[in-house]
Amino acid sequence: MPARPIIIDCDPGQDDAVALFLAMSSPDELEILGITAVAGNVPLRLTERNARVMCDVAGRSDIPVFAGAEKPLIREAISAEYIHGETGINGMDVFDPETPLQSQHAVDFLLETLAGAAPASITLVPTGPLTNIAAAFIADPQVIENVAEIVLMGGAMREGGNRTPSAEFNILADPHAADIVFSCGRPLTVMGLDVTHKVLSTPERVGRIRALGNPVATATAGMLSFFHRYDTEKYESDGPPLHDPCTVAYLLRPELFETRLCNVAIETESELTMGHTAVDFWHVTDRPRNAHWVHEVDADGFYNLLTERLARFANDR
Ligand code: BDR
Ligand code: CA
Repeated sequence: MPARPIIIDCDPGQDDAVALFLAMSSPDELEILGITAVAGNVPLRLTERNARVMCDVAGRSDIPVFAGAEKPLIREAISAEYIHGETGINGMDVFDPETPLQSQHAVDFLLETLAGAAPASITLVPTGPLTNIAAAFIADPQVIENVAEIVLMGGAMREGGNRTPSAEFNILADPHAADIVFSCGRPLTVMGLDVTHKVLSTPERVGRIRALGNPVATATAGMLSFFHRYDTEKYESDGPPLHDPCTVAYLLRPELFETRLCNVAIETESELTMGHTAVDFWHVTDRPRNAHWVHEVDADGFYNLLTERLARFANDR
């Protein structure tokens, strides 16, 4: 089977970075057409820089990286340095990357790539606020039909929220964009906190990655260890949750996850519950079933996959 063409839209962020590494480790299955950066965990100038750092570390400077939206569609920007550190990727050494930043705007790249593609042919993998994707869909709704599916990280049902009691960061950061993406009509698979909070980076799992010894594995282990400080205390768990790589793992090994097709609607009015994902898990409404809500994961299987794939990177860089 030919590799599936994907675009990763992200705000690195340690866990976005690991998602990029996992995708880059699997060229037989995933063809990364481009990486589009959005403001989120840290401002845009850092997320686009961090995406390029990951290309350098993985030896994939051939992947074009684009900078996109600096702020949400309507609301004021929020960020999360208190979790990710001031660089967004604290835990690894940051440097000026050689991978160039493309001059084209990320939204224009999305529009051009989708417009030139066949119907239902390109998979979008958003792991940050959905501003870039929504902006493209607003600019030219016709490109939506060329999206094969969208596999994103965002939202929560049973887990409530991580930024407010009822909202997860990516959806809260741009709820209006999320509303557009969740209503777009293309197949949607959603990795919310209900599943990512089961994917814990325990010291044993991180140790296995560190022991691989290649630069990608070393950077990954460093970043996951940094995450440990904040999240382990917050959640009183063995290790911090690893959110964004679940999207790429789903593309590689969907059988690791359990999903349920249901309606997911986004709260865009109430300040109290802004960015809440209202998941109709039990089908108590007639609203259209627009999303495959992911609710279970084989966490050991996920870490085995991640570790196996990170082992593919060479030791000589
Ligand atoms: C999401 O928000 C960010 O902090 C992470 O990168 C992830 O995409 C988790 O809520
Ligand atoms: Ca992210």
